[in-house]
Amino acid sequence: MRSFVPTDIYVEKDCVKNHANQMLAVGTRALIMTGRHSAVANGSLNDVESVLNSGNIPFQVFDEVEENPSTDTVRKAVQVAQGFKADFVIGVGGGSAIDAAKAVSLLLLNPAVDADDLHKASSSPLDHAPVVAVPTTCGTGSEATPVSIITNHGIQLKKSIPHVIFPALALVDGKYLASAKKQLIVNTAVDALSHMVESILNIKSNAFNRMFPEYGLKLWGECKSALLSDAAIDSGLYEKLMLTSTIAGMSIAHTSTSVPHGMSYDLTLHAGVPHGPAVGYFLAAYTEICAKFVPEDVQKILSLLGLKNIEEFAAMLRKLIGTCTIPSALRDQFAAAMKKNRSKLDLVPGAITAADIDFIYEKSLVVESN
Ligand SMILES: [Fe+2]
Repeated sequence: MRSFVPTDIYVEKDCVKNHANQMLAVGTRALIMTGRHSAVANGSLNDVESVLNSGNIPFQVFDEVEENPSTDTVRKAVQVAQGFKADFVIGVGGGSAIDAAKAVSLLLLNPAVDADDLHKASSSPLDHAPVVAVPTTCGTGSEATPVSIITNHGIQLKKSIPHVIFPALALVDGKYLASAKKQLIVNTAVDALSHMVESILNIKSNAFNRMFPEYGLKLWGECKSALLSDAAIDSGLYEKLMLTSTIAGMSIAHTSTSVPHGMSYDLTLHAGVPHGPAVGYFLAAYTEICAKFVPEDVQKILSLLGLKNIEEFAAMLRKLIGTCTIPSALRDQFAAAMKKNRSKLDLVPGAITAADIDFIYEKSLVVESN
């Protein structure tokens, strides 16, 4: 058994400022990757810029990272980074900004690789420039994983790239959640929940690495009523939500995600469903299938979350993210593709069948006739 998350991680209030020296030691010229608005609104971009200014580290901001970052955006950012002679990349935002920062860090040191070839495996591991991750949502966990999910619109593919890119440094501060809408916090928290459930219901789960999701699920259970309530999230919970998300990232750093994430990518790519709900719709039915293979693990998950049974789990997810309706032809197309997705199916802790996959789709999505 092995545990390996080679990222220097701080989870605390004001950690960007408190650990300025660690950030300043990462490189000498920074490309900051972020989205259009939220990093300005929540103060994270200003915090990072202040630290870089205090250490006289020149930086350039690339603020064009979209939700589900594309190979085209990565290519554009690499050109900016090369022109600026950046030697490290700082991702400030949700998973999109951090994942895009990872992809840029890889191409910075491998200029012969085109962004459209990011999903192709290389014969030997590729090096990457150092990455600093400053997450501002409580779901991605990308600050603690080697994973970068990139979309290639040319070939209609949303998938993780096959390169291992752990950030050198992660600075995780719950205060950045203060300006987030409640539904964004809920959606991303459902993503974190899925990371932990899929990490336990996974062939790679073992006694060593499951300390992450088991503790994280307990924390998530403590946030459950606040997430389910109609009231705004109490600011006292921000740090716990962020900590849970980072622990969920550490969970999948060891096991990878499984079937619900594999199913979610088509739903996002072809139906525009945000990542957290896209995963969450499949979570209860996947858990129900896994109860055939690893019933004790399913019971453990439910009890850590303070739930009696899978029906309560499904009802909780419905209250959090509602339901998803798609045309039946689209659902059938997704199911056919998923039946060939060995990289995810091989992680199921039992012999999942084609009928099981159909069951998950039927139970998880509402179908409109077309
Ligand atoms: Fe996810």
